[in-house]
Amino acid sequence: MPNQPKFKRYIWELPVRWCHWINMVSIVILAVTGFLIGSPYSIGSSASAYAMGWIRFVHFTAAYLFTVSLVSRVIWSLIGNEYAGWRAFFPFFTAKGRDKMVKMTRYYLLIDKQVPETIGHNPLATTAYTTLFVIYILMILTGFALYAQHAPQGIMHKSLGFMYSMFSAQGMRLAHHFSMYLIFGFVVNHIYSAWLMDIKEHGSEISSMFSGYKFTVKKED
Ligand code: HEM
Ligand code: HEM
Repeated sequence: MPNQPKFKRYIWELPVRWCHWINMVSIVILAVTGFLIGSPYSIGSSASAYAMGWIRFVHFTAAYLFTVSLVSRVIWSLIGNEYAGWRAFFPFFTAKGRDKMVKMTRYYLLIDKQVPETIGHNPLATTAYTTLFVIYILMILTGFALYAQHAPQGIMHKSLGFMYSMFSAQGMRLAHHFSMYLIFGFVVNHIYSAWLMDIKEHGSEISSMFSGYKFTVKKED
């Protein structure tokens, strides 16, 4: 209801917000440069312009940024507040979490009209984030395993040895490329859901990922 009193609450701590936007920017850069790596064509005035070399360099730089950001977020899930904590990402393990998931599913299936207010992450969203996280790990493992092929005696190649026994080089490229489309599928749905919740909950959902603050009817979760 639009005129209900609301409480202003600090939900997303700075590391959560920074990691979110760094991940987003690095994924956009990785996808654009990845497309060019997957379908290279002649750009630049001559081979010495080193155009594809620079594109690969940008891909690898963004890849390191993305990996550091992801590792930082995982560490923050152990030390951050309850909304950032790892438990929020496994709602299906508790009765309360399952109940919230059922309510949110009913809303998305148009069975219930009133959106169930969630203070931190919505439990269906966190289930999608956990799946996304698995895709991120696949992206990082296949990416670094492909990358390490330039130095077969190096430590990176040795520590990713299990990847070469599981995948062929082409299999890794395929998994790496295909997973990008899975991420695109997530992003379309994610932006739609964030927008929907912003409109329906009147809680400043989208701006909360910039400011950290949400407006909620409930005082406690
Ligand atoms: C969301 C993250 C990422 C996206 C969307 C992405 C996308 C892509 C795409 C589409 C390709 C072309 C694949 C092909 O068809 O051959 C590619 C290639 C590659 N990516 Fe990524 N990538 C990501 C993360 C990473 C990471 C974390 C690394 C780690 C270093 C990495 C390393 C590589 C390497 C080594 C190649 C092959 C380069 C070559 O053959 O010259 N990528 N990436
Ligand atoms: C590449 C694009 C994006 C990816 C991969 C992505 C991924 C994610 C992930 C993993 C989270 C959980 C954050 C955490 O706890 O660490 C999240 C939360 C959130 N994102 Fe994004 N995001 C993307 C783009 C966007 C954009 C463009 C918007 C704004 C329209 C947005 C709005 C939000 C909001 C409002 C939340 C908190 C929602 C909630 O779960 O309660 N995201 N996003």
